[in-house]
Amino acid sequence: MSNRKVKVYCPATVANLVCGFDILGLALQDPQDIMEVWEKESPGIEIIPDERYHLPVRPEENVAGASLIALIEEAQLTTGFTIKIDKRIKPGSGLGSSAASSAGAVVAANYLLGNRFSKNDLVRFAMNGEKVASGVKHADNITPCIFGGITLIRAIHPLDIVALNVPDLFVTVVHPQIEVKTSDARQILRKEVQLKDAIRQWGNIAGLVTGFMKNDYDLIGRSLEDVIIEPVRSILIPGFDTVKKRCREAGALGGGISGSGPSIFMLSKENKEAAACEMIMQEEFDRLGIEYKTYLTRINVQGILVEETR
Ligand code: HSE
Repeated sequence: MSNRKVKVYCPATVANLVCGFDILGLALQDPQDIMEVWEKESPGIEIIPDERYHLPVRPEENVAGASLIALIEEAQLTTGFTIKIDKRIKPGSGLGSSAASSAGAVVAANYLLGNRFSKNDLVRFAMNGEKVASGVKHADNITPCIFGGITLIRAIHPLDIVALNVPDLFVTVVHPQIEVKTSDARQILRKEVQLKDAIRQWGNIAGLVTGFMKNDYDLIGRSLEDVIIEPVRSILIPGFDTVKKRCREAGALGGGISGSGPSIFMLSKENKEAAACEMIMQEEFDRLGIEYKTYLTRINVQGILVEETR
């Protein structure tokens, strides 16, 4: 057992990227969770929670704990870990709060174990945390959180991750202070898709990925369209249609619901368009009388950062 302690900085993430439900995501520079992790002699996981939120502390019910259990089992460890969480990405925001905790815990533990697992292994472990949070093992937040940049999950069985090119983009986010549980936002989705909608959607996904790879901003903008998930989920988010329409008119390439919401994100080529989006978001949520937080940020290309503190 080592006596070392690490601090990990875990970025918020935008999953789906409008048309790529459960397969596309990107990491943000801001906000980030901070976690401290160290090994302990006795087996098991001790969680020191962030007191601002009432998150479960029993490891199997906690997203970071469930992810670490998977790592500990595979590594056949007889020692355990203590985790201290400073949560800056609000749970239920649609900004990958649970993924940041799940991914941060396994990245930190892996560092303490001498990096014996690959990033793909870490995604696999952290998916257990997403299962606790939403009932389903999806990886579209965890993967960009760990890898940084923009990522495509081509398949999860077996895991096939593709890191995409990252064009120079500004990201504006508004987080209205209402909670949308991912499990609820998944529950309301239709289980069947019409072929004509599927055709339009996979055209958009292919267009978006190509747009990223070729730094083709017009193609990115045209492809930021979701005919399957957004029409159902957007009804949970007051102001969504107005914000989206006005931001596009102000020059944003496009955007939509961040993950399962309620946050809304917009991608812009220039800072001035991103700043105009932020103002529109503020105006709209002021008008609605809903508290909110905005971020004008960039894509985080490095993913979770590990700092050894002892
Ligand atoms: N792809 C997931 C969803 C992300 O939209 O339900 C949840 O954060």
